[in-house]
Amino acid sequence: MRGARITGWGIAMPPEVVTNFDLEDKMDTTDQWIRERTGIGARHVGGMTSDLAAEAGRQAMKKADATPDSIDMVLLATTSPDQTCPGTAPTVQDELGLDCGALDIQAACSGWVYGLITAHAFIQMGMNKVLVIGAESLSRITDYTDRGTGILFGDGAGATVVEACEGPGELLGWDMGSDGAYSHILYADPGDTLKMDGKEVFRQAVKAMIRSTNAALDMAGLTPDDIDHVIPHQANIRIVESAWKKLGFTLEQTTMVLERTGNTSSASIPLALNDALAHGRIKKGDKVLLLGFGAGMTWASAIVDWQAET
Ligand code: ACO
Repeated sequence: MRGARITGWGIAMPPEVVTNFDLEDKMDTTDQWIRERTGIGARHVGGMTSDLAAEAGRQAMKKADATPDSIDMVLLATTSPDQTCPGTAPTVQDELGLDCGALDIQAACSGWVYGLITAHAFIQMGMNKVLVIGAESLSRITDYTDRGTGILFGDGAGATVVEACEGPGELLGWDMGSDGAYSHILYADPGDTLKMDGKEVFRQAVKAMIRSTNAALDMAGLTPDDIDHVIPHQANIRIVESAWKKLGFTLEQTTMVLERTGNTSSASIPLALNDALAHGRIKKGDKVLLLGFGAGMTWASAIVDWQAET
């Protein structure tokens, strides 16, 4: 039996930090309002998506002991590609000296989970190692005169190497979904900044998280009590709290990096995963739920039986 598991992970954050106090100078807002309504305290900004993605990918390959010639595919989830055309994944492939296919995934904040599930499918088809990256330079498409969106977003990247293994592998259950009827609640037209109906995004996000978690749990034959650790998309702490009330998860079993990263869209889940691993919060044998939702609307969940030494 041939499965797959995550064997390497890494991140990249641009050095410049913008605090809520810095934003008080740019728009009519306060640190207190932003913290209370979102849970965000600061965000990193700067750099291009490809550079952040390549740095995170380099670290993940190092951790996995993966040489450039061993990578069979790069999947780059991003909402803020370097250019409209070509895709950004080939730039990352070139920066890392890889000799393989390279594909952008545009599923907004769910993109990295879509990539993780797709990597498992590619490995079933015979690939051995897939580099899955979530990377964003959202500050390039954020309107800092709009206090409804300008407070939320940040830049960064997180990457993982997914590798073939003997046995069933780590993926116990998954779910991917979308509803394009809600594309108007969060979007950016070509050359323009992100526009959002925050209240509606909040409502739909909570619904999508509950529905997607239940679908992945059903596939895995598990209940919420079986999940040791949860890594949700880092958009707003109140969205997570609302969903957890229905699902029965606790904040103690949840990794949140939102306070210091802001919403980094497709980078947010691998950034939080790296943080959980760096702090020894995930152990071999833990069942971990990775849960994304975002513009589209899209949503995606993966339940993994964590198998790498941490
Ligand atoms: N600072 C101070 N006051 C503000 C700010 C701000 N930054 N923004 C809004 N307000 C004011 C409003 O004008 C309003 O004032 P009023 O009562 O006098 O009219 C009041 O605060 C309440 O505004 P709401 O818009 O109702 O605030 P809400 O509690 O809904 O919070 C927020 C807004 C934080 C945007 C919230 O709706 C949210 O987080 N939504 C989800 C957003 C999200 O997660 N987006 C990303 C999805 S993932 C992806 O795909 C990128």
